[in-house]
Amino acid sequence: SKKFDFIVVSNRLPVDRIEGSGDTDRWRRSPGGLVTALAPVMGKSEGAWVGWHGAPDEELKAFTHDGMRLIPVALSAEEVELYYEGFANATLWPLYHDVIAPPEFHRTWWESYRTVNQRFADSVATSAAPGATVWVQDYQLQLVPKYLREARPDLRIGFFNHIPFPPLEIYAQLPWRRTILEGLLGADLIGFQRPNDASNFLRCVRRYVDVTVKQNEIQLDGRSARAEAFPISIDTGQISALAATPEVQQRAKQIRADLGNPKTVLLGVDRLDYTKGIRHRLKAFGELLEEGRLNVGDVTLIQVASPSRERVESYRTLREEVEGTVGRVNGTFDTIEHTAIRYLHHSYPLNEMVALYLAADVMLVTALRDGMNLVAKEYVATRANNDGALVLSEFTGAADQLRQALLVNPHDIDGLKDCIMAAITISPAESARRMRLMRRQILDHDVERWSQEFLQQLRNR
Ligand code: G6P
Repeated sequence: SKKFDFIVVSNRLPVDRIEGSGDTDRWRRSPGGLVTALAPVMGKSEGAWVGWHGAPDEELKAFTHDGMRLIPVALSAEEVELYYEGFANATLWPLYHDVIAPPEFHRTWWESYRTVNQRFADSVATSAAPGATVWVQDYQLQLVPKYLREARPDLRIGFFNHIPFPPLEIYAQLPWRRTILEGLLGADLIGFQRPNDASNFLRCVRRYVDVTVKQNEIQLDGRSARAEAFPISIDTGQISALAATPEVQQRAKQIRADLGNPKTVLLGVDRLDYTKGIRHRLKAFGELLEEGRLNVGDVTLIQVASPSRERVESYRTLREEVEGTVGRVNGTFDTIEHTAIRYLHHSYPLNEMVALYLAADVMLVTALRDGMNLVAKEYVATRANNDGALVLSEFTGAADQLRQALLVNPHDIDGLKDCIMAAITISPAESARRMRLMRRQILDHDVERWSQEFLQQLRNR
């Protein structure tokens, strides 16, 4: 079989099957920031992408989609439950996001995580040309760098963590804390979103692994690894170009008209995840209506909550809470012709997303913890006229780059309410001043620059 010089490996392939067989037309882009960032990178290289195709108990051959060579890794239904829903998303995800939900520790989940990580490493080892560069992505695959180096010491291995890396005091809970760190240390370069994530990691390494750490360099036997921050971004050019098309602009006008042309459209766009602070946002909005600081008819909140990890308990609970709150707020404040919250439990194609961004006067990003948050950057990328306001949680990686957003602590409901009001009433001159600076930032630091900086560092090692 063909060997590749460049391989990206992530738990999920960048496509989701809609239905049926391996027919290329039946795939569409899968959700989440990782795919959003890496799809444009892969489109421009001759590499392959190794990952799971999203269906349990199914073996698939390699195929090509959108010009990308995709190599599927199969997971059994039991592995989906133990490795993916269990260890990845009910142990690591909450642990790495400040234990917003309590992480669960189960030895059977851990066993499955190891088995599946080994399988990903084996698949890459078979597909990689001599001396190839392999770029491993995210928390689901933290053992892959070590397993891969054992099988193929000739490879150049990079790792990038898309989510936060927790402080030592939280990481310490993990029963397998040392093995995971050793897994990551199989990479030559370990990338994080924020400098703080990299320093959390280095502190954990110093504490739990018997190695020498000098600044960002970790000395292992006969080689060294480096940990550093590389804040990820979006394909800014693509998003601004889409926002400039007459079709998308027309669609944005239509959306506002369909809402009855309210004075102000607020927008939230998230995977339905407890890290995103959706409940805090709804609470703040509900109180503003209750106090009469906002009125239905003048203002509408569109909340897109794309379905995510629906078999994991904490996600089910969250969905019930969110839908209960939306029902209560709407039941209380709606009139026959106006609704307070347009709640959309769907995922939408990029065109429609960009139209929604364009239609929104205020973008609400209130995550309690988020590695980066690309939605914030996408909103900014669509604001060619420098209008609109971004309310942005200081607990997101994006807050490092989008300094001129209206920064907020989402736990502080009164502060959040004031911040939403400030965004609604901001003067055009002030919002333009802020938006101009933020747009310059993301035009300058797009996802291509991110990947080039990471890969250049990796190749220099
Ligand atoms: C986040 C993670 C990704 C993940 C995505 C969607 O962006 O960093 O690794 O792919 O969420 O979640 P899912 O579990 O559906 O892959």
